[in-house]
Amino acid sequence: MKIGSKILVTGGAGYIGAHTVVELINAGYEPVIVDNLSASDKTLLAGIQQITGKTLSFHQGDCRDKNFLNFVFKAQGPFKCVMHFAAFKSVGESVQKPLLYHQNNVGSLLTLLEVMEENGVKDFIFSSSCTVYGQPDVIPVDERAPFKRAESPYGATKQLCERILEDVHHTGIRTISLRYFNPIGAHPSGLMGELPIGVPNNLVPFITQAAIGLRKKLTVFGNNYNTPDGSCIRDFIHVVDLANVHVKALEYLSTDTRKNVYDAFNVGTGKGASVLELVNTFIRATGAKLPFVIGPRRPGDVEKVYADPTRVNTILKWQARYSMEDALKHAWAWEQKLRKSN
Ligand code: NAD
Ligand code: WQD
Repeated sequence: MKIGSKILVTGGAGYIGAHTVVELINAGYEPVIVDNLSASDKTLLAGIQQITGKTLSFHQGDCRDKNFLNFVFKAQGPFKCVMHFAAFKSVGESVQKPLLYHQNNVGSLLTLLEVMEENGVKDFIFSSSCTVYGQPDVIPVDERAPFKRAESPYGATKQLCERILEDVHHTGIRTISLRYFNPIGAHPSGLMGELPIGVPNNLVPFITQAAIGLRKKLTVFGNNYNTPDGSCIRDFIHVVDLANVHVKALEYLSTDTRKNVYDAFNVGTGKGASVLELVNTFIRATGAKLPFVIGPRRPGDVEKVYADPTRVNTILKWQARYSMEDALKHAWAWEQKLRKSN
């Protein structure tokens, strides 16, 4: 175990947090997980234990609860760094429940920062999103692209959180914001993956659920966009690659001797793929039957967005290793395992 290697991972029972916990353990760190299980259960925690063979330090509680956080910081710390995944993430739900989203996403960050300050913890890695850019004017989008007015309360919370982190970097909180593009896939072991509650909003979990028979069919939202095949274009990134960039960011922060750091990185493959390309790759790579129809556009969807990953490639020395095909095979293996065990 590395000395001073305890990392607080909020939202560590969720999709990206759990995959990151595995990468942290593989790299010799000691993650301490905090999650209130409001959007997850203990399934992925069990997956982490099976993959790594480690007993986890898990504390169930809310990031807006200052007493709870202080307890964890005192009982489990000192932490080298905080990785903050805990948030609500559904764009559509955020339109229906804007206060809940601001309360949870912004409130959690503010409380966490206060507790970090009180406990002398400085280093912070934040789960941001390409949603901060809206529909960018220039594609591939780099980190200098301006934040357009957010399309949803969810997007607004990510913009606000980034602004708060930029403000507090003057007081010594050293932050890296990672702006994820579209995370997909599952752990190659088949022991861990995405676990949406109810009907999935995101493309890949909807596809795997439709292919296994849980949903009647996939609707592709629009084939009349200004793209080669008419469907939207995204930058789909394997969740294990995404998890891995957090370890790189952690290592980068620990070698950076500056007192004040605020930096943001786009995390994507740099390759745009269309929804129809992804659907066809899924069918080809898995051999599964996927009933799908073309439907109307989904309101609020951006036509085309993919990352310019130059900064994350060169500064954090990170490259995506998995292909879209790998990610879809892994997501399918996970879906099959889930349904077998239910
Ligand atoms: P997820 O819902 O699977 O995981 C989030 C976890 O946070 C859940 O386990 C939930 O129970 C927990 N949580 C929520 N509010 C909490 C609170 N107040 N206190 C303690 N725990 C709380 O989501 P994910 O896909 O793993 O996303 C992780 C982060 O990445 C989020 O901040 C999300 O906004 C961001 N992000 C996700 C995507 C994506 O497509 N999945 C893309 C860009 C950014
Ligand atoms: C991808 C493409 C849909 C479902 C969202 C958030 C973004 C970020 C990532 C958090 C789109 C199409 C989807 C379906 C479809 N999350 N689609 N049929 O909207 O790019 O990004 O998740 O920060 O902020 O907005 O992801 O997976 O929902 O959609 O045709 O049943 O798939 O129209 O073009 P999106 P998604």
